[in-house]
Amino acid sequence: MRQTGSQMLSLWALALVWLVWGSPTFCGSTPGPDASAKNACYRKTCGNINYDIREAVCCENRLHSGAGLSCCGGEPFNPAKATCCTERDGHPKPKTALTLGLSQKVSDCCGLNAFNPLNEICCESTVVPKPVPKAECCGKEAIDVDKQMCCGKNRTILTRKSIHHQCCGSQQFNTTSHCCSPINGSLQILEKSNSSGFANKSDPVDVNKQMRCSPSENPTILCCGLKQYNTKTHCCCVMNDTLMIHPWASSCCKNDSGVQKQQPEPQSNCTELQTSLCGSSCYNPNEFRCCERNQTKSKWCCGPDRCDAAPTVYNPHTQVCCDGCVSERKPWMDQCCGETPYGLAERGVLCCNNTLYKDREDGEECSEISVPYNPTKWTTCCSQFHATPGQHCCGTEVYRPHIEMCCDGHRHPKENMQCCGVKAYNISNHQMKCCAGTLYNLTSLGTDIHTARCCGSLLQKAQDVCCSHEDKELLYSAKTRFRCCGHLYYNTSLWSCCADKLSPLHQPGHHQNKMILSLNNLNETDLCKEMLIGTVDSVSLHSIVFRSVLKIHGRTMIPLPSPHILKKPDRCNFPKLIHGKTYFFNEVNVFTDFNHDSILQSFHFITSKCSQVTSC
Ligand SMILES: *[C@@H]1O[C@H](CO)[C@@H](O)[C@H](O)[C@H]1NC(C)=O
Ligand SMILES: *[C@@H]1O[C@H](CO)[C@@H](O)[C@H](O)[C@H]1NC(C)=O
Ligand SMILES: *[C@@H]1O[C@H](CO)[C@@H](O)[C@H](O)[C@H]1NC(C)=O
Ligand SMILES: *[C@@H]1O[C@H](CO)[C@@H](O)[C@H](O)[C@H]1NC(C)=O
Ligand SMILES: *[C@@H]1O[C@H](CO)[C@@H](O)[C@H](O)[C@H]1NC(C)=O
Ligand SMILES: *[C@@H]1O[C@H](CO)[C@@H](O)[C@H](O)[C@H]1NC(C)=O
Ligand SMILES: *[C@@H]1O[C@H](CO)[C@@H](O)[C@H](O)[C@H]1NC(C)=O
Ligand SMILES: *[C@@H]1O[C@H](CO)[C@@H](O)[C@H](O)[C@H]1NC(C)=O
Ligand SMILES: *[C@@H]1O[C@H](CO)[C@@H](O)[C@H](O)[C@H]1NC(C)=O
Ligand SMILES: *[C@@H]1O[C@H](CO)[C@@H](O)[C@H](O)[C@H]1NC(C)=O
Ligand SMILES: *[C@@H]1O[C@H](CO)[C@@H](O)[C@H](O)[C@H]1NC(C)=O
Ligand SMILES: *[C@@H]1O[C@H](CO)[C@@H](O)[C@H](O)[C@H]1NC(C)=O
Repeated sequence: MRQTGSQMLSLWALALVWLVWGSPTFCGSTPGPDASAKNACYRKTCGNINYDIREAVCCENRLHSGAGLSCCGGEPFNPAKATCCTERDGHPKPKTALTLGLSQKVSDCCGLNAFNPLNEICCESTVVPKPVPKAECCGKEAIDVDKQMCCGKNRTILTRKSIHHQCCGSQQFNTTSHCCSPINGSLQILEKSNSSGFANKSDPVDVNKQMRCSPSENPTILCCGLKQYNTKTHCCCVMNDTLMIHPWASSCCKNDSGVQKQQPEPQSNCTELQTSLCGSSCYNPNEFRCCERNQTKSKWCCGPDRCDAAPTVYNPHTQVCCDGCVSERKPWMDQCCGETPYGLAERGVLCCNNTLYKDREDGEECSEISVPYNPTKWTTCCSQFHATPGQHCCGTEVYRPHIEMCCDGHRHPKENMQCCGVKAYNISNHQMKCCAGTLYNLTSLGTDIHTARCCGSLLQKAQDVCCSHEDKELLYSAKTRFRCCGHLYYNTSLWSCCADKLSPLHQPGHHQNKMILSLNNLNETDLCKEMLIGTVDSVSLHSIVFRSVLKIHGRTMIPLPSPHILKKPDRCNFPKLIHGKTYFFNEVNVFTDFNHDSILQSFHFITSKCSQVTSC
């Protein structure tokens, strides 16, 4: 109740004042203090300009128009075709740099340079090509961890003698016969039988600091240098550059240099049924809760509340527990509104997003921004209130659907157009191409309308490669000896690809991957040819079973008998199809529609595009 009470009151008072003074033509501001703070319907302000975050980006108070943009430093960029790397370097203003030609969705940063972690590795802020898929850094170099090891402070690269070898300083040793121990300030390799206090089965955990050497395989007994210690009572820490065993309470254990960080949980002596400890007594957590504030087990525990105060015991006959807070119970109370109890029998109460409003008029509802309003007097569109009830909304504005169309919250004149994101275009106009919600004017970009292709929301250039997967299309700068595997772009000397799955390359492997193609990239001739659509029922190595298959040809649609079986020419050379999903396909390819969210929208697109094709 604490804070919510006053919050509720001020909100209510403001809403009331607004209802009294709000003039019918007003729609520039909104009732309630919360409304303007909300990022309602993708609207934000940049400086003092109001904009749609899907159409522009605001970088350091400057507005840049363009869909899908983010900021890198003060500059706009498209994360679908570039990566922004940031380095703080102790400066208050971090350094940023942009790497073009690599989408942020598949990259990592190495200092200020972006790289593709599939084919490259970042070693001490330098991007190096991976020698093998399972590579690690050793200093500035990348090594093959199966064949090499990186030892000592000087990061010496050694050829691994066996899988049983580990580093001891800058040398390697055979863990089956030897162990490594800090003696008199330096690491030495000792024969196991010689080192008294060590068990046979020493299993170095971190050979520079400690090793497991318990003869009884008791995990709580560890080695600290040449001595064993019990982790329940002591820690192994570094003091004066030597490993020392100290009680947990000592400053050495509390210091950062402590080797073993966490003191193990004390074990309770509770029984099998009463497994948990509350205060000093055991209880069964299936029956009771522990009300920590009273150190008592009880069925009536309320909390923790918003201030993280521990659960407290309450009396269910005289008190109510709402959202962790205890309040006095009235006989009619049967609901909680956030932390506030109330009753449905009370007149004029309205609970909007966990805030209780009282003395509301009949017929009031919660608006989208969770402020009460009367729908017979107002239309609320994305946090904007309009004094004309019963209207349709388009973004923050009302619109008239018989003369206007609404594309993702933006109004356009209705001229038999189609939406592409927030824009509208004439689907018969070949100059315009819609790529996943981003509209391109091919003529003004100087792109050939016959070869223009989409890759996700981007328009693909001749020197680019588009790799696609079930629900993703990603653009890459073309490289020699690289190929697509699903949406990933890989180095063929490291990986092989089979049915959208990468595996480390052991011998010259198959590099086959047929991708799911985008319906949007078919020209009208191909789009309007005969095509099938069906839902995947079953996938085997050699074929795919579809159900509910329709043959579509331009504007005609004919149901085919189920099941429909499609033979796979080659197990690897076929995209991975997901059971239960619906695909367009012909004998050669499988297509999906990256542009539209529903099959109905896809059908609408095809039939609109193929309006000229006469049915057979
Ligand atoms: C590490 O390299 C430094 C200088 O390169 C050398 O002085 C030092 O002895 C080396 N330490 C080890 C453990 O090899
Ligand atoms: C490691 O030690 C074991 C046991 O002594 C021995 O069998 C094995 O050959 C040694 N491995 C190497 C590579 O020296
Ligand atoms: C460690 O050094 C001390 C004194 O320098 C010496 O007595 C002892 O033998 C050394 N221990 C080992 C294991 O070398
Ligand atoms: C192990 O002990 C034997 C005999 O005590 C000795 O000859 C050998 O040098 C010792 N080996 C190591 C690695 O300390
Ligand atoms: C090593 O193991 C053997 C047999 O398991 C045992 O006889 C010997 O005492 C062990 N040595 C040490 C130092 O624990
Ligand atoms: C650590 O070294 C300091 C001075 O070098 C000495 O006074 C202190 O006793 C040493 N501590 C331990 C635990 O040996
Ligand atoms: C903790 O360790 C650091 C060096 O590692 C040392 O400077 C500091 O005095 C130590 N603090 C305590 C409480 O031992
Ligand atoms: C439980 O603890 C809270 C807070 O300390 C106290 O107000 C309350 O009276 C206690 N309840 C019982 C049943 O002891
Ligand atoms: C409801 O309240 C929560 C917490 O105050 C807030 O995060 C959320 O956005 C609100 N939801 C709506 C629809 O206003
Ligand atoms: C759409 O484009 C087609 C072909 O360019 C044209 O015939 C038609 O009039 C256009 N429709 C509208 C509403 O602009
Ligand atoms: C596309 O761009 C061309 C050239 O800039 C322009 O003439 C044409 O009107 C534009 N088309 C649309 C639909 O905006
Ligand atoms: C459509 O694309 C196919 C290849 O996919 C091509 O053979 C055909 O000529 C194209 N048709 C038109 C009208 O561009």
